[in-house]
Amino acid sequence: MNKEKIGHGLATGKIILMGEHSVVYGEPAIAFPFKETYISTKVEPETVMTLDCHYYSGDFSNIPQQLKSVKEVITQTLIALHKETTTLKITITSTIPAERGMGSSAAAAVSIVRGLFDYFDVPCPPEALLPLVTRAEKIAHGNPSGIDTAATSGNKPLFFIKGHPLETFPMNVSNAYLIVADTGIKGQTRAAVSDVAHLFEENKQKISKHITELGRLTRVAKQAILADDAHTLGNAMNQAQEQLQALTVSNHRLDELVKTARENGALGAKLTGGGRGGCMIALTDSNEHARKIATALEKSGAVATWIQPLGVKN
Ligand code: MEV
Repeated sequence: MNKEKIGHGLATGKIILMGEHSVVYGEPAIAFPFKETYISTKVEPETVMTLDCHYYSGDFSNIPQQLKSVKEVITQTLIALHKETTTLKITITSTIPAERGMGSSAAAAVSIVRGLFDYFDVPCPPEALLPLVTRAEKIAHGNPSGIDTAATSGNKPLFFIKGHPLETFPMNVSNAYLIVADTGIKGQTRAAVSDVAHLFEENKQKISKHITELGRLTRVAKQAILADDAHTLGNAMNQAQEQLQALTVSNHRLDELVKTARENGALGAKLTGGGRGGCMIALTDSNEHARKIATALEKSGAVATWIQPLGVKN
């Protein structure tokens, strides 16, 4: 047992700007690490294997089913490190609201893997990290595209295409501010992804049109970002929301907050992440206006809001 060492692992939340759901079908998506929120994991020596987190505190062998992906990632990481017999205390703390489309499950897995590698003083490059997190994400989400894993483990905005090498790009729209608002309702990524898959099987022609259109809008958004054009970006976000509604992944609360943001002058607004709850995002062109929209969203029932400037050099 390593008595001196404490291991630390960190991962951020993520925001998908454009391309959720269609990314599962090979279309591109734009996402960035959301540094306002994070998960950290502390690893210490202990005489029995224990886990301490918001949902559970106790013996590793009694971890509830709800935390199956956490249990899996710890087990698999210890196997990868050839340390299966070590006993540790693993403490996870988080400021990422769980199940709100901010990538909390991927971020938890990333921080755990990093914490365990750090504890054993083993470097943790993406080649070691990503397969372990992907395995946990398959348990948490069924058929993940990998975007959550990529965005929560990196520190740059991504133009992400499933199965392709990671492409970062400069998300630098001057005078653009993104408001992120939490509906307070747990999102249902797994169910939403699986329902879209069923719809796709039932009516390939109709659903693939929505998916292709989401891909096109994501490319439009990328060009708008590169051209420093917040208005075109906002427009693409509004159109994407319509497509996501057609895929049945929005819901009443998300639609209401999107409407509030638009009524208060947002350039664009849409859900972010898996949908059916979770968070929405809105775009505007001044910090002052962003605050006004955030206040309006809170009055309309958002339980938390964040403001993220996009006009920074990434
Ligand atoms: C979830 O954050 C994003 C989805 O597109 C699912 C995925 O890409 O794995 C809904």
